[in-house]
Amino acid sequence: MQILETPRLILRELRTDDADALALVLSDAETMRFYPAPFDRTRVEQWIARQIHRYAENGHGLWAVILKSNDELVGDCGLTIQNVEGQNEIEIGYHVRRDQWGQGLATEAARACRDLGFARLPVERIISLIRPENLPSRRVAEKNGMTVWKEVPWHDLPHLVYAIRREQALGK
Ligand SMILES: CC(C)(COP(=O)(O)OP(=O)(O)OC[C@H]1O[C@@H](n2cnc3c(N)ncnc32)[C@H](O)[C@@H]1OP(=O)(O)O)[C@@H](O)C(=O)NCCC(=O)NCCS
Repeated sequence: MQILETPRLILRELRTDDADALALVLSDAETMRFYPAPFDRTRVEQWIARQIHRYAENGHGLWAVILKSNDELVGDCGLTIQNVEGQNEIEIGYHVRRDQWGQGLATEAARACRDLGFARLPVERIISLIRPENLPSRRVAEKNGMTVWKEVPWHDLPHLVYAIRREQALGK
């Protein structure tokens, strides 16, 4: 099911048959350097299953990012619920295949997800949780209009909570 369209991208729900294409993103050691380890095939399949569960449960999750020019899956991006210090927050997350970095694709997808989130969900704030050393991801959050709200331990590691409020997102 298609969720969003931007100038260069389609965001659609992930499917089980996306595992090969998504493994090229999530099994890459450099892409996953801020994670405990790159994903093996089982983890990629579990990742997809988790998003499919989220679509059913919450109406959103991480979606497949498809390049319109050639129909290729080049990443994921979307909206998930994360519990930060006891409070549920809507988070924008993103991963882009390494050969596609630096063209603004993550920013294009993330902005569309931000606008969809504020349009569809009754939230006052949307966040991104990012390791302080993950400078490319921080830059995407900044280009998405977010600023650092606070730092929290997250899965046992320090993370910056980037945030944008609804009124700030208007007109961005
Ligand atoms: C983060 C990620 C999704 C960005 O994807 P992308 O499509 O290349 O992002 P964009 O092109 O929209 O923007 C990247 C920005 O980071 C900047 N950047 C890249 N490497 C950088 C570095 N080492 N230091 C500082 N900035 C850096 C780019 O210059 C660009 O900013 P600019 O437009 O101001 O020049 C991609 O690097 C990725 O998949 N990383 C691994 C997964 C990950 O960490 N995801 C986030 C988890 S919180």
